[in-house]
Amino acid sequence: MEFATLATRLRVGSLTLKNRIIFPPISTNLAAVTGEVTDAFIYHYARRAQGGAALITVENVCIDYPAAMEGATQPRFDDASFVPALSRLTERIHAHGALAFVELTHPGFMGSRPPVVAPSDVPLRPDRLRPNVLTVAEINALAMKFARAAAIAQRAGFDGVEVQAAHGLLINQFLSPLTNKRTDDYGGSLENRARFARLIRERIAELCGPTYTVTARLGVIDYLEGGVRPETDGLVLARQLQEQGYAALHADVGFGDKEKRLEPMAYPQAWRADLARTLKAGGLRIPVIAVGVIREPEVAEQLLADGAADLIALGRTLIADPDWPRKALGGKAQTIRKCVGCSECIVSRHAAGTAIRCGVNAAVGRGEEYATIAPASRPKKVVVVGGGPAGLEAARIAALKGHQVMLFEKEATIGGAVRLGCVPPGKEKMRWLVDYYRAVLGELGVDVRTSAAGTAASVMAENPDEVVVATGSDPLVPPVEGIDGPRVVLYTDILGGRAPSTERASGPGEGWASGEDVGTPVLPLPTGEEIVVGGGGLVGCETALYLAANGNSVTIVEMLPEIAMGMEPITRSYLLRELADHGVTVHTNAKIERLSEDRVFAATENGPREIPFERFVVAFGGQPRQFEKLPVPTAIVGDAVRIGRLVEAVRDGYAVGRKL
Ligand SMILES: Cc1cc2nc3c(=O)[nH]c(=O)nc-3n(C[C@H](O)[C@H](O)[C@H](O)COP(=O)(O)OP(=O)(O)OC[C@H]3O[C@@H](n4cnc5c(N)ncnc54)[C@H](O)[C@@H]3O)c2cc1C
Ligand SMILES: Cc1cc2nc3c(=O)[nH]c(=O)nc-3n(C[C@H](O)[C@H](O)[C@H](O)COP(=O)(O)O)c2cc1C
Ligand code: SF4
Repeated sequence: MEFATLATRLRVGSLTLKNRIIFPPISTNLAAVTGEVTDAFIYHYARRAQGGAALITVENVCIDYPAAMEGATQPRFDDASFVPALSRLTERIHAHGALAFVELTHPGFMGSRPPVVAPSDVPLRPDRLRPNVLTVAEINALAMKFARAAAIAQRAGFDGVEVQAAHGLLINQFLSPLTNKRTDDYGGSLENRARFARLIRERIAELCGPTYTVTARLGVIDYLEGGVRPETDGLVLARQLQEQGYAALHADVGFGDKEKRLEPMAYPQAWRADLARTLKAGGLRIPVIAVGVIREPEVAEQLLADGAADLIALGRTLIADPDWPRKALGGKAQTIRKCVGCSECIVSRHAAGTAIRCGVNAAVGRGEEYATIAPASRPKKVVVVGGGPAGLEAARIAALKGHQVMLFEKEATIGGAVRLGCVPPGKEKMRWLVDYYRAVLGELGVDVRTSAAGTAASVMAENPDEVVVATGSDPLVPPVEGIDGPRVVLYTDILGGRAPSTERASGPGEGWASGEDVGTPVLPLPTGEEIVVGGGGLVGCETALYLAANGNSVTIVEMLPEIAMGMEPITRSYLLRELADHGVTVHTNAKIERLSEDRVFAATENGPREIPFERFVVAFGGQPRQFEKLPVPTAIVGDAVRIGRLVEAVRDGYAVGRKL
């Protein structure tokens, strides 16, 4: 077996895991506002169990309603009336041979409903409510609430519970010296700071029995001055929790930038596995779980083989492809649809507050019926025009339904705008999506023709029953005087046909799966030039970063008050920092009125401004590419309809594919 260690069993507490893969808690917004789990919620977890993970951890749940409620749709574990629906959830997880856990959480001062509570009144987060400092009686009562939630979980058939002692939440607030300034038995020494965790463990044992398995997500590092360090107090805290009876520990992060626990695309694989490695090296006897940007089976296997961890948590990895375990352990790793780190799930959960979505897996969060691809009653001939994500997904679903599918792509390789999107620094993972489609479309027998532009004539020559137009977009070139000047180029000219900025991101196994060339560069890459990028949206910013990283002096001119607007906030702040670190100058509220041969003339709040350039890059966005009208039923998808992101393109392709 290729990933032999990944496939081996492991004992955790009183349980045996069938392999080393666990699904960590990922909130979904799929529960009802009443706190009851819905059919879509149950299916979401059952589907991950079906994919072959050994243990499924249900997202963080409310142990104390309404005081400890987070978000509008958190599942409630504070009342026995929720047990029947929860039992349906565990039955469906168990039916696939996986174990079911649930994460018990209390936000402490991170809560959003007043009054919030905390071990101490520390103004660590000025944007948060001032907490009431917990009395010892209240601490005892809260430990009991954790235990009652565990008892509800046990009655509902959960095999164990995970206690959330990371991410700056209540237990973490006790553990960290940054937020625990108590002078009683619950503060000061490491033993005292870990006393709340001990109390919770003891109460759970009292209510659920001593053999009921309890694990913890432990914040073994604070990315803040004076916080927990992994090698010192992180390790001691881990030993304390081991001694208290926790059966396994998730080596996770405590306080600090959200970026460190919800990593943007640029982060290398397994970058924080060293946290687990430190605990293992410190001689911990209970299993240690590594988490964070583990996307490829090679990487997971290596961590286990090196002894850096005993278990691998795959969060977004199993959102993007629940069948990752089955594929990895079944010799089909090349067909894994890897999470590219587009952060759409984070947008849905945290910013938009909608049901969870995934940029590469259109079925996520939509329930069982939508996720099921039924065979077509009558196989048809389907022609897809355009091999970007929208067309590729439409082709995949159509082929899954049993249709005969042919795809025209005018370029030498498939991938569409992803071929450009994966070029700037930190964007290499996007290319994984292209590798995935190449592997699965080949398996499904889709007839992919590259260097073949679809025209009405060539499409109709195939005699299709239905056509999907997925022709993407052209760069938008506004009618500005001088935009046709000799030093003006398009962002597509800069990014087009290039290899990504780094051949391999760090981490074993990461990088190109196919090693295939992306095409012929349109332009020699400028270096040492003074370049103005017109347009500060995602594409303009990333093109600017790419140029700056290649030794150019770059200025972005944007007419809106800010650049990179509309992006997921964690990724956006990462990008803005990168731009600043690379010395990119930004002019906002600056409307470009005309260009001379070597100068931008812009209107700004402070009057007219001239910005010199040796090269001007047009990055004002795109406009849908039109296609000729056809005499057969035709659907238009992706950027060919409206300029969007992966999520819209893949969702469109999936939806249209289902209807064929
Ligand atoms: C620099 C950059 C960075 C990006 N970063 C992100 C990101 O981080 N996250 C994210 O979610 N999205 C990102 N995107 C957007 C994402 O790539 C697009 O939303 C997505 O690729 C749109 O897919 P599509 O299939 O609709 O169109 P496209 O990807 O544009 O594909 C259209 C395809 O059709 C082909 N075609 C056109 N006409 C014909 C014809 N007549 N015959 C045959 N083939 C034809 C084209 O060659 C192309 O391959 C980025 C885009 C760019 C440019
Ligand atoms: C949308 C989203 C929701 C999450 N919800 C939770 C949660 O409820 N509880 C928790 O402890 N961690 C949560 N996490 C963190 C994940 O469990 C995991 O630690 C993190 O995503 C890194 O692992 P990954 O790269 O494999 O996704 C969430 C992450 C994401 C992306
Ligand atoms: S939405 Fe993007 S980041 Fe989230 S799981 Fe899917 S591919 Fe990964």
